Amino acid sequence: MRSSIIISFCFANPFLTLAYDTPFAFKARPTIENRTIDDIYQAALAEGGVVTAWHGGDEKNQQDALKKAFEERFPGMTLNITVDVSKYHNGLIDEQLANGNLYVDSAILQTLHDYPRWKEAGALLHYAPLDFDKIHTSFRDIHAAYYGVNIFGWNIDFADFLDPNLRDRIVLTYPNDDDAVLYTFDLIMQQLGAGWFDDLLLQNPRWVRGSATPTSLIDQANNKGAAIFKDAPHPESTKLLHNFLISKEYLETTPRWTVRTDAPAHFPKIFDELYTNVNVFADWMADRERVERLRFWFEKQIGTPQGLSPLEDDL
Ligand SMILES: *[C@@H]1O[C@H](CO)[C@@H](O)[C@H](O)[C@H]1NC(C)=O
Ligand SMILES: *[C@@H]1O[C@H](CO)[C@@H](O)[C@H](O)[C@H]1NC(C)=O
Repeated sequence: MRSSIIISFCFANPFLTLAYDTPFAFKARPTIENRTIDDIYQAALAEGGVVTAWHGGDEKNQQDALKKAFEERFPGMTLNITVDVSKYHNGLIDEQLANGNLYVDSAILQTLHDYPRWKEAGALLHYAPLDFDKIHTSFRDIHAAYYGVNIFGWNIDFADFLDPNLRDRIVLTYPNDDDAVLYTFDLIMQQLGAGWFDDLLLQNPRWVRGSATPTSLIDQANNKGAAIFKDAPHPESTKLLHNFLISKEYLETTPRWTVRTDAPAHFPKIFDELYTNVNVFADWMADRERVERLRFWFEKQIGTPQGLSPLEDDL
């Protein structure tokens, strides 16, 4: 008996605080939206017409265009959107979930590793918006708990940063403050070696917080995820937002890469880009131990991020 007690003790994981293992409810099958977007709109209005979304980003007004587009398309609706860096949003959402006082309906974040975790905890609504099957399979969870909604890409020649004319004129985001920037530095340096970074430091760049700030932006290809919480206070309004986010009518307003396979012809499909693989980012983000070691490598070279949150600075 004694040995079996010891064995069960060893298997108890002190970090696993779930009361039960949600996959064994065998209830992952999503609700598939079968109403028209205008029917969802009527349901959303009847519910009160507000959706609270937390969006990753580094300037408060960064999603004003989305808010405007949504509210113009659906008069009477309010998109109550708050932008902050994803790595701050997620912890506050965890706090709400843990305390049973969730007031966020929708999370649209760069921290892609949060979504599978929230799904396992049973915190996400399994809901497929209209045209869900048009999202590329690699961008969507098979149970429609989360999916990609937008893609950012780069087209910068990184050797350009070493141009002598740019000395003292480069403004860059601390790679040890933003994982998407850290990812980009990792990609560049796996190709060009650590010497590229030494040469970059000789250019005397100015390091700032927030990737919306830099004038010489190192951009990257990655995607933001999106999920609706199971206990979202405004389910119908949130469904309306998510249907809108992946709708052709919204995505076609600006030429851009999209998570949809039926991308508008005037912009190439992301998978036709030769040097980009957006999906690598999700795996990269999930390896938190590697991310942390890399972050501290950069911190050793350039110090800890200085200054206020990018949302509070005046840059
Ligand atoms: C539409 O979906 C709802 C919820 O999943 C379901 O109850 C209903 O039967 C469906 N209606 C049709 C016409 O398929
Ligand atoms: C709008 O969002 C803020 C911040 O997330 C929240 O405190 C507030 O309660 C929301 N307002 C409504 C009307 O839901």
